[in-house]
Amino acid sequence: MYENYYGLTSKPFQLTPDPSFFFASKWHRRAMSYLQYGLSQAEGFIVITGDIGTGKTTVANSLLDDMEDDIFAAQIVTPKLTPDELVKMVASKFSIDTTNKTKADLLKDLESFLFQLHKSGKRALLVVDEAQNLPLETIEELRMLSNFQQKGKPLLQSFLLGQEELQPILRAPNMEQFRQRIVASCHLAPLTDSETQEYIEYRLSHAGWEGENLLSDLAYEKIFQFTHGVPRKINTLMDRVLLYGFLEELKSLDENAIENVVKEVSDEMFNPEDKVSTEVVPENSVTDNSVPSSSPAGKAGGQVKDVEYYKAMLTELTDALDDAISHKIKLTRYIDKLLKEKYKTYVRLKSDD
Ligand SMILES: Nc1ncnc2c1ncn2[C@@H]1O[C@H](COP(=O)(O)OP(=O)(O)OP(=O)(O)O)[C@@H](O)[C@H]1O
Ligand SMILES: [Mg+2]
Repeated sequence: MYENYYGLTSKPFQLTPDPSFFFASKWHRRAMSYLQYGLSQAEGFIVITGDIGTGKTTVANSLLDDMEDDIFAAQIVTPKLTPDELVKMVASKFSIDTTNKTKADLLKDLESFLFQLHKSGKRALLVVDEAQNLPLETIEELRMLSNFQQKGKPLLQSFLLGQEELQPILRAPNMEQFRQRIVASCHLAPLTDSETQEYIEYRLSHAGWEGENLLSDLAYEKIFQFTHGVPRKINTLMDRVLLYGFLEELKSLDENAIENVVKEVSDEMFNPEDKVSTEVVPENSVTDNSVPSSSPAGKAGGQVKDVEYYKAMLTELTDALDDAISHKIKLTRYIDKLLKEKYKTYVRLKSDD
């Protein structure tokens, strides 16, 4: 919607991990090197952990994107899979027919598939995303799969990508055998403040932005302050900032624009403690807005707080709805303007005929 207004050829802050938008920050570069090193080892497990939205899937997709043809990669995103379900899913990802087959059948088919692949000069790579959801026994099953060998050469290598909860799982005392098979591991951290600016500039220019300084220095500071350099948060915020800029007809964006947008989106994307400092906290309202208070001050005190809490929530909701309505009105006006211009051009062209 705002692309035309800012002369962009595509949306710069899409949420889907797109390798063509890959930005090599210090940590992302390091993670890529680990993955590449791990790949060259052709065995064992490579583990990448990181906070939510820091780019684990993006790193893996970028690697898969420019991988050599001799690797057959299969990617699974795991809900809480049992060991049997995992085997079935891995088999089906390697295009093995799984209908009416027992686990033993599937393991046999998988082994012969991996063996055939090896014979044709290729090797298999399994990318397990969201691996923090795997139960211990399923990770153990993964280890068993990595035992398939041909003349001492492992037939399957795996990447495990997961949020921080994956680390304690892998550190568990009974995971020693698994740990010994990890050939490389690394942790993705959020971007620094200067990387946050470079990241935004990179994504904008990759989406066709040709102007200069769309955002002021203070605007970048605010963005970092509110997103803590987490790429997904930056994308969500920036998408809304551009929409706001378009609706408000701003050709450059300063810290006020960012603050206004943060106020709009803070409930969707930020934790309560991230909220804008200028926010008005009603007297007596509870600070934890996730659950209404049942305070030890007694039932009556608790009820007063609850009433205040719901009042504050309703006020916020009314404000948000007001904002949404005023944006809709601006958008309608803008479309109206466009239609009028188009009509004028049409009439002019007609009269030229
Ligand atoms: N290095 C990067 N270059 C470009 N975009 C990135 C980069 N890292 C993250 N992103 C963007 O941030 C968003 C979140 O990235 P991604 O989905 O890879 O995070 P994740 O760590 O896998 O998240 P989750 O913990 O939810 O699985 C995506 O929109 C992605 O495009
Ligand atoms: Mg992910």
